Amino acid sequence: MEQQWKTIIEPFKIKSVEPLGFTTREERRKLLETAHYNLFNIPAEKVLIDMLTDSGTGAMSAAQWGGIMVGDESYAGARSYYNFENEIRRLTGFGEVIPVHQGRAAEKILFTIIGGKGKFVVSNSHFDTTRANVEASGAQAMDFPSKAAMSFETPAPFKGNADLEAMEKFIKEKGAASIPLCIMTVTNNSLGGQPVSMENLKGAQNICRKYGIPLFLDCARFAENAYFIKLREKGYGGMPVRDIAEAMFELADGTWMSSKKDAFANMGGFLALNNKEWAARARQLLILTEGFATYGGLAGRDLEAIAIGLREVLDEHYLKYRLRSAEYFGQGLLKRGIPIINPPGGHGVYINAKKLLPHIRPQNFPAQSLACRLYLEGGVRGVEIGTLMFGRRDAKDNFLAAPMELVRLAMPRRVYTQSHIDYVIEVMAYIARNRRSVKGLDVVEAPRVLAHFTAKLKPAEHAPRGAAAKVKSKA
Ligand code: F0G
Repeated sequence: MEQQWKTIIEPFKIKSVEPLGFTTREERRKLLETAHYNLFNIPAEKVLIDMLTDSGTGAMSAAQWGGIMVGDESYAGARSYYNFENEIRRLTGFGEVIPVHQGRAAEKILFTIIGGKGKFVVSNSHFDTTRANVEASGAQAMDFPSKAAMSFETPAPFKGNADLEAMEKFIKEKGAASIPLCIMTVTNNSLGGQPVSMENLKGAQNICRKYGIPLFLDCARFAENAYFIKLREKGYGGMPVRDIAEAMFELADGTWMSSKKDAFANMGGFLALNNKEWAARARQLLILTEGFATYGGLAGRDLEAIAIGLREVLDEHYLKYRLRSAEYFGQGLLKRGIPIINPPGGHGVYINAKKLLPHIRPQNFPAQSLACRLYLEGGVRGVEIGTLMFGRRDAKDNFLAAPMELVRLAMPRRVYTQSHIDYVIEVMAYIARNRRSVKGLDVVEAPRVLAHFTAKLKPAEHAPRGAAAKVKSKA
């Protein structure tokens, strides 16, 4: 009998390496000051472990680099486009395949066609750029997350699910005619990278069929979602993950993907659907802003790398290692008393800064303060999902407390090994032991929209709890 080993290893060997950016604590202290306590302003070379995002930051395989060399750069009808189209058709079953330079370009095109004033788009949760594109069209983006999603501490297998009852109630109230689309985001990035079950996808399909609403998947992390279904949902344990992924797409009428995630590409995306009329209009917009229908803002080599990546990501050795790494990371933090969204999702861990740093008021940005401290102590870069990112203000321009204060530590694909994760756990444990010394931040300057990218902050002066923080706004 074959021995079943318990150790789950990185299922690759490393052919090409890059040095990490070592700095001293004193250098990082100065860097934070010059960056105005905004980690988007830190040069990447000065970051040791970069967990800002898992988007476009993955390591391509030797096969993908090989594809880059043979990419066909013809303007129209490139061979690489047909490889890309075939791969996407085979996986998703959708006949119309439209390449775009990244996910949000597909969103912009789609909502220009189907959005508009007086309309509502319903979803388990819209990602930020999806919401922004829905709203830019004049429509409203409505989230219906499952109740389990909001109890961060209590584990549940499918916290990415939609609350289908609430969604259907809303559809009945507003009338199906005002709802051009239902989106299921797999995995649900805004709420911890949590998976959606096949049952919930089927439920969403039933509602959509009943009211004649098209159902689309925002499938940036479809393979991670499919493997979670294999691990956690009854009846799927013995099914190949490719079949599970295909079954997910079968429930939908279309999809779009940021291929910077589960296709291991540094750039790229697509929109795929069956509706020929929408596809024809999408291609017209594509030509206006992205490029001709067979490259859509991408080089032939990118199309080739994405086609190969979409096959590679469904390797079960890879997916087992990927989800186990996130779990290992999460368990390491939990064991040291650091509160996270539990269980961890597919692409990283989300630390609950509100719980870890109760002494910092929301107006002093607990999650942003923690993210800065993590950089100061260990050179680790994460991203705030809290009061700064949500960016809602009152009439006097003060920031309104967001419902959550999280620091997302996203794991780029195939980039860091277990020792890198052990290091981040050690740094976080040190900060948690010294949590009382983490101080809040004040905003010096912040634009009205997407404040977190460019806001300037400084260490907070000691305002008493409850006092409103004054904020200068720059239009
Ligand atoms: N949908 C989801 C679920 C995403 O996570 C993202 C990007 C997009 C759409 C937009 O795709 O960046 O290619 O335009 N998420 C990145 C992140 C930025 O860090 O989570 P894009």
